[in-house]
Amino acid sequence: MSSTEDLDYPKTILQYNSGFLVSKVIFTACELGVFDLLLESGEPLSSDAIATRLGTSTTGMERLLDACVGLKLLAVELTQEGALYRNTEISNIYLTKSSPKSQYHIIMYYSNTVYLCWHYLADAVREGKNQYERAFGISSKDPFGAMYRSEEEMLKFMAGQNSVWSICGRDVLAAFDLSSFTQIYDLGGDFFNDSIPEAELYILSKILHDWDDDKCRQLLAKVYNACKPGGGVLLVESLLNEDKSGPLETQLYSMNMLVQTEGKERTAAEYSKLLEAAGFGEIQVKRTGKLYDAVLGRK
Ligand SMILES: C[S@@+](CC[C@H](N)C(=O)[O-])C[C@H]1O[C@@H](n2cnc3c(N)ncnc32)[C@H](O)[C@@H]1O
Repeated sequence: MSSTEDLDYPKTILQYNSGFLVSKVIFTACELGVFDLLLESGEPLSSDAIATRLGTSTTGMERLLDACVGLKLLAVELTQEGALYRNTEISNIYLTKSSPKSQYHIIMYYSNTVYLCWHYLADAVREGKNQYERAFGISSKDPFGAMYRSEEEMLKFMAGQNSVWSICGRDVLAAFDLSSFTQIYDLGGDFFNDSIPEAELYILSKILHDWDDDKCRQLLAKVYNACKPGGGVLLVESLLNEDKSGPLETQLYSMNMLVQTEGKERTAAEYSKLLEAAGFGEIQVKRTGKLYDAVLGRK
């Protein structure tokens, strides 16, 4: 990451310092509908035309578009009528709302919720707890309030989770041969209070990372009791390296878990220990090389 060149001129440090500026550019372009408009228009547009169609100032839009060009989210062509902007391929696939692989909803969740919580990151580190109360005035003791400010936000969060599945779901589900399991239960909702129905395979996708070790053990014991003999549990989580040296994305997710939840990201060994404590055995771990990995345990 840092190179010897950095010792003369700290490019890496400067890039890290501006990281949130990049986030805000992508949040704003998505929120204002820049990528959707350029997809729908089917032809390159000037900054004037884009500003008029999206109801913004020209001066602001022009700068936003140029920053998107710098980030390779837009391409610009200088013509006799002036600069014309169009989406790059990556934006058409991932940043337009209508694309099957759209990341629009998760980006909006980051913009409207995650970003606001991260304002209190230093408080989260000082106190060792999530900052929902400070950011939104909601007590973290209210189980659903801890994650969502309203039902609308919960639906937006779910839409965001679905966008992640559209790019990671296939790899995670192909990690193990699950064809022997005919009855599969995708755990969600209020699983601490509600009973869990009997099934052969339980999928706990991004569930354990929301909770501390005690709650994880409690939940896994409940799943183990409900699980048919010979059945199993599939954890879908972003795995930290055993020495916690990376991957960076997972380290950042773990910081996010600190700011937003009662949980953290874990190593494969930490998940295996939690599974074993609940009674699961024959634990297998598959890293996908993408954002989410898979851990399978058997009853
Ligand atoms: C990070 S989401 C994962 C959603 C889904 N399994 C996926 O992979 O896309 C965590 C889920 O835990 C569930 N949950 C249950 N109790 C909760 C609570 N008290 N606070 C937050 N989430 C809770 C919610 O249904 C929520 O969707």
